[in-house]
Amino acid sequence: MKILVTGGAGFIGSHLVQRLLRIGHQVTTLDDCSTGRPEFLRDVMGHQRHTFVHDSVTNRQTLSKLMDNCDTVFHLAAVLGVKNTVENPLKVMEGNIDGTRNVLELAYRKRVKVIFASTSEIYGKNQNLPFTEESDRVLGAPSIHRWCYATAKSLDEHLCFAYAKNGLPVTIIRYFNTYGPRQTSSQYGGVVARFVRAALNNEPIEVYGDGTQSRCFTYIDDAVTGTVAALGPRANGLAFNIGSDQQTTVQELATLIHRLAGSTSPIVRVPYEAAYGPGYEDMKARIPDLSRSRSILGYTPRVGLETGLRRTIEWYRQTVESERG
Ligand SMILES: NC(=O)c1ccc[n+]([C@@H]2O[C@H](COP(=O)([O-])OP(=O)(O)OC[C@H]3O[C@@H](n4cnc5c(N)ncnc54)[C@H](O)[C@@H]3O)[C@@H](O)[C@H]2O)c1
Repeated sequence: MKILVTGGAGFIGSHLVQRLLRIGHQVTTLDDCSTGRPEFLRDVMGHQRHTFVHDSVTNRQTLSKLMDNCDTVFHLAAVLGVKNTVENPLKVMEGNIDGTRNVLELAYRKRVKVIFASTSEIYGKNQNLPFTEESDRVLGAPSIHRWCYATAKSLDEHLCFAYAKNGLPVTIIRYFNTYGPRQTSSQYGGVVARFVRAALNNEPIEVYGDGTQSRCFTYIDDAVTGTVAALGPRANGLAFNIGSDQQTTVQELATLIHRLAGSTSPIVRVPYEAAYGPGYEDMKARIPDLSRSRSILGYTPRVGLETGLRRTIEWYRQTVESERG
């Protein structure tokens, strides 16, 4: 197939591009390199079935041309990260809505299938666990910036479903805390990346809140497997949870990374207000119900947390060492 990947120089995108090439597809990567790095694609830059385009999904002319030459677009380009949502909500809203509208409008005109990267964040503060894809969204007030990313992605999903109603093949993937090599910590603060970096630098590992909040951490290879499975026609018109269903508290995560990295860092508690400002709201837990992903996509997460963390730590060790020169 001829496939366009927006955000393909990013963390998930670069692993996806490599996988798609490995299984024989022709791939064009479109990325403005705002957080993505072309060097993540170093191994495939000269690949005969790969083209890299340095531009934005907000450039309709570029996007239109690229859409003329593909059957499917994986739309991952986005502005994300809790820190961004509280510090720069306008950038998050614009960065998640404008490009997605372009992708969907042009894909609809050209009959290109869309696979859209959404997030477990859209379930918000819902406490009825686990979340099925039809679970309610429970979000805080719009005056609380923390909810702007979830709101923008929910609006994007509404657009996806609206185009699907009009006949466009669309699939939505909701990722649950994906981690692994190439997840860069500084721009948006993925917790695994943040802890691993601190542990390797023997700096304090900062646990926000009391550390009893839990998440389902999903290794990148499993996330990519679930994403690629969405190419099949049975996935059209549906959203899918893609994640692990094993819970780990943030305190346990810190302790595990500390041990696996052989770190001498102290593990310290930091109040949410100190990390994100006053009025920050967090959810205690977030667990996916994987029934639909299992039955339709054949998806089962396979990489355990300790194995995934060892691989991630190894990648960061090499990166931190090369940064030190
Ligand atoms: N990592 C996670 O745990 C997670 C969880 C839920 C959802 N997601 C979603 O998965 C997707 C990929 O996330 P990621 O973790 O790889 O983040 P990332 O920041 O590494 O990737 C996003 C990519 O999009 C690119 N980009 C941003 N704006 C662009 C624009 N206007 N035009 C072209 N490229 C642009 C960035 O340069 C970057 O390469 C995003 O849509 C994100 O919302 C990720």
